[in-house]
Amino acid sequence: MENLHKRILEEGQALSENVLKVDSFLNHQVDADLMYEMGTYFKNYFENHKVTKIFTIESSGIAPTVMTAMQMKLPMVTLKKQGSKILSGDVYQTTVHSYTKDMNYELTLSKKYISKEDNILIIDDFLANGEAALGAARLVEEAGAKVAGIGIVIEKSFQPGPKMLKDKGYDVYSLARIAKLGKGSIEFVK
Ligand code: G4P
Repeated sequence: MENLHKRILEEGQALSENVLKVDSFLNHQVDADLMYEMGTYFKNYFENHKVTKIFTIESSGIAPTVMTAMQMKLPMVTLKKQGSKILSGDVYQTTVHSYTKDMNYELTLSKKYISKEDNILIIDDFLANGEAALGAARLVEEAGAKVAGIGIVIEKSFQPGPKMLKDKGYDVYSLARIAKLGKGSIEFVK
């Protein structure tokens, strides 16, 4: 997505070889026009995948996912990150480990918002180790539903997530794919 590449190059800051800061349009301030265009790209890629619902993970995945759900005319569900297990039969939960933040959380989905007939598109802002997307896929599959695909705004292609998800058979579509981060330099996959 050309406009996203442009914004990453103009405003992104490589904080280290592993972390890209994009607070000015995605993770803190949000550029709604850019989010809308992301929605158009996701729609164009996934419109023939028979998607019934779109899931995202709070919080930075929400903006691009709303724009996609609007354009695909589909319901959207935000998976919540709970600090501890909920002891009730009304939810599906799975533990996700974040390597970037070195912490665990319980990804949580109410049973009311998924059924066996669903074919779910999962969208998130960053793909690093793939643990969040894989956790979302586990919840979908635990409910007996299918994963239609995984849409990512910024994939760090040099980290393990993209290959791991593709090796498991998921259709991963990323709007920007970063090959390398260095102090003051950002390179995309060619
Ligand atoms: P993973 O799911 O691919 O394994 O990623 P990981 O747990 O390591 O990422 C944890 C959090 O850090 C996620 O946000 C993810 O979006 C974010 N993140 C990972 N790499 C980068 C990066 O290079 N730049 C930025 N800006 N964020 C990154 P989160 O905890 O879910 O927070 P949020 O969605 O509430 O913003």
